[in-house]
Amino acid sequence: MSFACSKGRDSLMITVFGSINMDLIATTERLPKPGETVAGNGFATAAGGKGANQALAARRAGRYVHMAGAVGKDAFAADALALLDEAGTDLSLVKHVDGPTGTALILVGGDGENMIAVVPGANGLVTPADAEIAIGRMNEGDMLMLQLEVPVAAVERALSAARAKGITSILNLAPLIPDAPRLGRLADIVIANETEFERLAGQNGMDTQEREAALVRLHQETGQTLIVTLGGDGVIAIRDGVISRAQGLAIDPVDTVGAGDTFCGYFAASLDDVDFPTALRRAAVAGSLACLKSGAQPSIPLSEEVADRI
Ligand code: RIB
Repeated sequence: MSFACSKGRDSLMITVFGSINMDLIATTERLPKPGETVAGNGFATAAGGKGANQALAARRAGRYVHMAGAVGKDAFAADALALLDEAGTDLSLVKHVDGPTGTALILVGGDGENMIAVVPGANGLVTPADAEIAIGRMNEGDMLMLQLEVPVAAVERALSAARAKGITSILNLAPLIPDAPRLGRLADIVIANETEFERLAGQNGMDTQEREAALVRLHQETGQTLIVTLGGDGVIAIRDGVISRAQGLAIDPVDTVGAGDTFCGYFAASLDDVDFPTALRRAAVAGSLACLKSGAQPSIPLSEEVADRI
């Protein structure tokens, strides 16, 4: 499969510094409660990992993308990188370390909701030195995208090196870890779901108005662009003092795994091409389309599919 790159600024490079996993996916009629066993009705493997998913989404959206991270020297490594490779992602910053590739054990219920346990494997061996190398390959004006599935010290070094070099950083605060609020302050743009945003804002159980007030308050304090994804309710964001909202598509989800990553990758790929509200809308539509197929990476739509639905 080949991809035409965006005509907006062909030189813009997106580097994704983050996790690469093999997803082991079981589908069930409903998700089990703690301690309960339920019957599965399907099993599949698919390439995943929040970093790799976001990289593939940005690539399918038409950008030049470097993936930086680690896989093991095991049978999963090649499969975990296959779709990125096929899409023409630069994988020269992916190191191959002794030990297992990261895995995610995923249950998907009949309503499309999921439960995930991630075993980091090689992702846990990504270092601050790897961050230095990745940022060293980037140029001022490029974009760096990160999540929180590789060690905190590496994420922190990448963020500070990017800032020193004039590289725009986008941090997706997923999965939620104790360091998330602190790391969130180091990025230019933060993408969070409702729960992650509450942790960032230091306030639990926000209603719609409280969330908007917290967005304004945090934005005034930090000047950051802040984006909160709201599942089926779309997205709310603030940038340069202006609140924006966008909706995805009205859909009946099959599998929501990777939908947030698809949003992030499409957003990063669109930011430089179109105005901010349009970038949000494009990303939200891409995220909706990602809920219509199984598997994180197999479900990420191509740019033409997204364009057809905007
Ligand atoms: O966001 C979805 C991803 O989270 C999955 O692909 C899984 O690998 C976990 O990292």
